[in-house]
Amino acid sequence: MSHPGVLQDSYKRVIRDLRISITDRCNFNCVYCLPDTEEADNFFKPIDQGAKKPSPVPGKLIYPRKRRSQILTFEEIIRVIRVAASLGVNKIRITGGEPLLRRGVESLISQIADIDSICDLSLTTNGTHFLRLAKNLKKAGLGRVTLSLDSLDRDNFKKITSRDGLDEVLESIRLAKSLGLAPVKVNAVIIRGLNDHEIVRLARFAMDEGVIMRFIEFMPLDSRQAWQRDHVVSGAEIAERIQSKYPLTPLPAGNPSETSTRWSLGQGTAEVGIIAPVTQPFCGSCNRLRLTADGKIRTCLFSQHEHDLKPCLSHGSDSNEDLVARLQQIVLSKEQGHRISEPDYVQPASTMSLIGG
Ligand code: 5AD
Ligand code: SF4
Repeated sequence: MSHPGVLQDSYKRVIRDLRISITDRCNFNCVYCLPDTEEADNFFKPIDQGAKKPSPVPGKLIYPRKRRSQILTFEEIIRVIRVAASLGVNKIRITGGEPLLRRGVESLISQIADIDSICDLSLTTNGTHFLRLAKNLKKAGLGRVTLSLDSLDRDNFKKITSRDGLDEVLESIRLAKSLGLAPVKVNAVIIRGLNDHEIVRLARFAMDEGVIMRFIEFMPLDSRQAWQRDHVVSGAEIAERIQSKYPLTPLPAGNPSETSTRWSLGQGTAEVGIIAPVTQPFCGSCNRLRLTADGKIRTCLFSQHEHDLKPCLSHGSDSNEDLVARLQQIVLSKEQGHRISEPDYVQPASTMSLIGG
């Protein structure tokens, strides 16, 4: 039964966190997300006999992007946020694709910031357009930012992302700090044989730069479906590798729905987070919903089904009461947990670039 006034699922989890992908386009091709590149092909080739999608054909995208007309307008996004906020959602994260590729993103941020009950407004970016937009985003009311940085080695960074963009991202991280878009979090997805040799160096980076470095297990959400368990470096192994060089002390969870285990690093001068959805699922306390760039609600990153909100959003259709009822009904189908480790697990058709991190 739906619960009046809030978004509560069948397992009594109350949804407070809405993540919104505002575009499925990206100027990177990260190996773990959109590996439509020769580098990614070369990396996966020796170990990906089981890959379910073909190798890239030059000039042809494995994972075609949505048409512009399929992407939600800002007006539609704001309507969903307002309704979700009226149902207790107080945390919004804007993601992509690369969200800063969407024209006018500052205006969207400013409209979200104007909604009183939203107390945490953040954005995940690959950092390439951040230098140009950061000041205006801050002015518009963005609270904090998470940047992706999977390597501190220029060549390896390029191999992983397809772009020679390390310096830009480093500059973006420093700019985010200086603008007070804090706490600045930095995401590194760790893949065995690709960047696991950089774990300790990335931890050191957290100490040197005063940012929260978050190490993330590689999840089966890449467009090529090349993910295999052998690629995953477990959270436990990541912690061990850091600990072999710097003392790690566990920190209390900031809030119960937190995805990362938090650790204080060195002499308490820095913090790292380890996000281990594959080996240590945290589904029991998940309070998140996702809205894809094309207007579908996903109740879990790994859902097999999506719930189209567009019919409730199209011009002139349905009042907000209908949208409230639809959201409450959708939430009731939120899965108890993901099934990555089950033998019959099937990777979702949507990739992270559409769903949003
Ligand atoms: N596994 C783990 N994390 C991923 N991300 C994207 N794809 C994956 C994946 N397959 C995360 C990255 C990026 C954010 C947008 O999503 O951390 O920073
Ligand atoms: Fe782009 Fe982010 Fe996917 Fe990398 S992870 S390809 S930056 S959407």
